[in-house]
Amino acid sequence: MRDNIAIDGPAGAGKSTIAKEIARQLSFVYVDTGAMYRAMAYYLLQQGIPPEDAQGMEKACRTADITIQYENGEQQVILNHENVTARLRSEEVGNMASVSSASPAIRRKLVELQRQMARSTNVVMDGRDIGTQVLPDANVKIFLTASAHTRAVRRYKELTERGIACDIHAIEADINERDHRDMTREISPLRQAEDAVLVDTSDMDIPEVIHAILEIYEEKK
Ligand code: C5P
Repeated sequence: MRDNIAIDGPAGAGKSTIAKEIARQLSFVYVDTGAMYRAMAYYLLQQGIPPEDAQGMEKACRTADITIQYENGEQQVILNHENVTARLRSEEVGNMASVSSASPAIRRKLVELQRQMARSTNVVMDGRDIGTQVLPDANVKIFLTASAHTRAVRRYKELTERGIACDIHAIEADINERDHRDMTREISPLRQAEDAVLVDTSDMDIPEVIHAILEIYEEKK
């Protein structure tokens, strides 16, 4: 049986930063499932397939080949033989991913890929449904969250530091909208698994969160 850590939570809770560092410290592989949904969204945008087009989405699942590779420990998403990792972080792709990830066909395809990865190696996997659907037997499940305001401020700082002009109110509205979509969708909504530990990072810094999760891992191991 593999040692797997599932980290779920809303957008901007710090999942990827935290999960990446925990994976590094434990020598596990970090799997960013959001990037897979973003890659599918990127493909849909590229092909001009709107999320209302269920048939188009099913077809896209057959024609989009998504594989994951690692370069210097960093996850790379390969879409039809092209490394698209650098193109996945835009708001446009994120918003599309939040809508298109409700497609059952897309979820089936990506959950299968995620389970395959967790079978072949020890993983720290982050997403929305890892503890509830993808890896229900993961030995450690964390539900990482923070208030919408805290998450908006973090995202604002991140974008401003990268020289990207943005509006904090628009970011917070976007976060609330995305949370709502992720939590109310019919298939695999974002929710805390019954056996997950809730970690609210609103008043914690990154080292504190990492320390808390590593302690939970040590206790449960
Ligand atoms: O985490 P990230 O913002 O990169 O995820 C993009 C979108 O992909 C989310 O808004 C969510 O709707 C979707 N997603 C999902 N299930 C996952 C990971 C991400 O539905 N396991």
